[in-house]
Amino acid sequence: MNNLLGKLFYIFDRQEKFQIGIIFLLMLGGAGLETLGVGLIPPFVNLLSNPELIQQQQFLVWLYERLGATSNQVFLLWISTMLLVIYLFKNIYLSLITYWQYHFLYVKQVSLSNRLLSAYLYSPYTFHLQRNSAELVRNITSEILQIFNGVLVPMLTLVTELMVMSCIVILLTIAEPLSSAIAAIFLCVSIFWLNKTIRKQMNGQGLIRQEQSGQMIKCVNQGLGGIKETKVLGREIFFLQAFTKSAQAFGKANLIVGLATQLPNLFIDTVLIGSVLLIVIFSLLQGRQIQSILPMLSLFAIAALRLMPSAKRIISTITNIRYAKNAVDLVHHDLISLETISTSISLGTSSQTSSELFQNSIELKDIYYQYPNASHPALSGISLSITKGQAIAFVGASGSGKTTLIDVLLGLLTPSQGEILVDGKNILTNLESWQQKIGYIPQSIYLSDDTIRNNIAFGLTTDEIKEEQVWAALKAAQLEELVNSLPDHLDTLVGECGIRLSGGQRQRIGIARALYHNPEVIIMDEATAALDNTTEREFMQALEAMSGHKTMIMIAHRLSTVKNCDRLYLVKNSRISDFGTYNELISKNEEFQAMAQHQ
Ligand SMILES: Nc1ncnc2c1ncn2[C@@H]1O[C@H](COP(=O)(O)OP(=O)(O)OP(=O)(O)O)[C@@H](O)[C@H]1O
Ligand SMILES: [Mg+2]
Repeated sequence: MNNLLGKLFYIFDRQEKFQIGIIFLLMLGGAGLETLGVGLIPPFVNLLSNPELIQQQQFLVWLYERLGATSNQVFLLWISTMLLVIYLFKNIYLSLITYWQYHFLYVKQVSLSNRLLSAYLYSPYTFHLQRNSAELVRNITSEILQIFNGVLVPMLTLVTELMVMSCIVILLTIAEPLSSAIAAIFLCVSIFWLNKTIRKQMNGQGLIRQEQSGQMIKCVNQGLGGIKETKVLGREIFFLQAFTKSAQAFGKANLIVGLATQLPNLFIDTVLIGSVLLIVIFSLLQGRQIQSILPMLSLFAIAALRLMPSAKRIISTITNIRYAKNAVDLVHHDLISLETISTSISLGTSSQTSSELFQNSIELKDIYYQYPNASHPALSGISLSITKGQAIAFVGASGSGKTTLIDVLLGLLTPSQGEILVDGKNILTNLESWQQKIGYIPQSIYLSDDTIRNNIAFGLTTDEIKEEQVWAALKAAQLEELVNSLPDHLDTLVGECGIRLSGGQRQRIGIARALYHNPEVIIMDEATAALDNTTEREFMQALEAMSGHKTMIMIAHRLSTVKNCDRLYLVKNSRISDFGTYNELISKNEEFQAMAQHQ
């Protein structure tokens, strides 16, 4: 529990902790009012049945005079009205507190999901290489909801109920010490036993819920994400069965929790009524007259009526918190590990503006990189230098390390040894400016289910998108004709992952996206692999004709694409085995000759 509170406290900032403090104090007031509500009923009942008390008790005599009552009846009317006002006030006050509590939680829920998504978005690329996106989706949506609906709301309820319960117990102890003690002991023993039993049943169910809900999203993502392969291979049943298995385990965990929340209600019912009856039996055994214990019994009955829902809520909230607390562990873990990484990265940024950067050269000095959990380095001892305006290419066998090299150049992967210098400065000191210079076309292009326009100006709002820039990029990517032929032009929806476009058209949208910002450096990872020879040639010519002389870094399997590059680097087993112009390599390198021959 301590641990849980510590983690929850990390999730809130100072201002929020202050707000929680205020809510807590207000709740304390609410508990006081609740107790007053319970405590006032027995004397009122007593007064109604024995009006002669009005003249006997000092306080009532004083009140009678102050109110200027003319008869007992008028006085009782006054008292009834006052009681009504007190109850009204109490309930309005409690409604307001409830509103504030939920309002606070709602606002916090939005900001916590934002904070988690932001931590994921800003986390290093290597983090995403190791985590499944289904898990991240689950964390941002259902786990955050669990923290609120399963932990925080129950916790507030728990605190409120515990406060009310304690106040009522104090009231009872003052009014009837002995009987209360007996009832309290009976209650404590029963609740302790119940709690122990539930804890045993609940053990591990929270973790099962978490794991299985992640698995369910994963099955849906994989089955629907690869729907073409799923259908052609006839694997619908596989995904369906995998999903059913997880859904059943998830359902079973929910069933256990549902029972553990509901069944204790009946138990509590029995225990509380049992306590009241126990007091009656005890009093009768003591030889007390029933008449004399009636006011005391009415107090206990009212208290039991108020305590019953409290006790039920306390048990069910504890069960809920147990079930959902893994969500707190998980979100806390991700936040604390990712937020420390991103603050250490942002501390390293320098103030150099992006236009000053990259006037002369890019230099790679003895770069090593090994993927987390990999047994061999993907890059070992890569050194090369690229002058501004040059076009260079990496060629080599599949799996030799070309994409990795480009990811390091992009600053997505941090080399374990060596550095990348742009005009003599390490790119990691000003990564954002460096990345702004680059237009990057990845090996596999992600298209969002949106219009062509929004896919080209990826991640910009409608107001920010510059129409002429979109057309310039389209033109260079050889897409102008296609877009003009579509009925909705730039507003054409491409479908999920661009499903309504051909492979080559998708790739050209990716190219247009990279060119939209008119970048100085263009990095292409197999950017033209899906294009036919003519379209590719036209695209390369359009690139050369674009304003300013671009620096181009590319990977291509088709050697005709890179024939005109200033320099080709042959990548082999994570190293650069040779370099030179196309003609130089053809004349001196046997491996390159073989590659050229087989095309
Ligand atoms: N996330 C990863 N974790 C572990 N190993 C990886 C990861 N990504 C790539 N590798 C490994 O690193 C090596 C280099 O991969 P890379 O993607 O750079 O090859 P490539 O030259 O681009 O190949 P291709 O031409 O097929 O695209 C491969 O052996 C690959 O298995
Ligand atoms: Mg690759």
